[in-house]
Amino acid sequence: MHISTPKKDIDRILFTREQLADKVHELGEILTEEYKDKLPIVVCILKGASFFYIDLCRELKCHINLDFIDVSSYGNGTSSSGVVRMIKDLENNIEGRHVLLVEDIIDSGVTLSHLRKLLSARNPASIKICCLLDKAGAHAKELEPEYHGFEIGNEFVVGYGLDYAEYYRNLPYIGVLKPEVYAD
Ligand code: PRP
Repeated sequence: MHISTPKKDIDRILFTREQLADKVHELGEILTEEYKDKLPIVVCILKGASFFYIDLCRELKCHINLDFIDVSSYGNGTSSSGVVRMIKDLENNIEGRHVLLVEDIIDSGVTLSHLRKLLSARNPASIKICCLLDKAGAHAKELEPEYHGFEIGNEFVVGYGLDYAEYYRNLPYIGVLKPEVYAD
């Protein structure tokens, strides 16, 4: 990685701060309706989903519990290693509870299919996924999240929680990284 400001490494902005806020508000209204009587456990899949998760929780106008799980499959590269490593498990017992998993992006689908299987085995009342970005062309159809924000193409995106080699997460928008940043 060469030293520069994060902004200089962005080829183009895909979703501005305002577009993200509008989408999160829209999802918040749909999810409030769905979960208003269910006292769900809303789970943040660290670390990529963190910005989306916090904003989304503020848009949920119903009682929720917060919980966090940390898994990683990418290491420092730009494509999935295919192996999902558990770094931090949930604190709550989810048996009999409604669980909403909040994720930043579904790419190959490896992370979400692993998590859905792992958590379903703990017998929750329901388990659904809300994912901000869906690389629909990159994964099997049956892995589609119940709720998603935007469909995107096969580009490497960063910002609003998404990283490359742990950088760029703090950009307030989502943009496409210049290929030369990860070429070397
Ligand atoms: C990224 C992203 C998703 C996952 C999506 O996480 O946040 O969790 O990859 O890719 P997939 O559909 O191909 O599995 P990563 O493992 O890089 O960890 P991070 O959230 O801490 O950045």
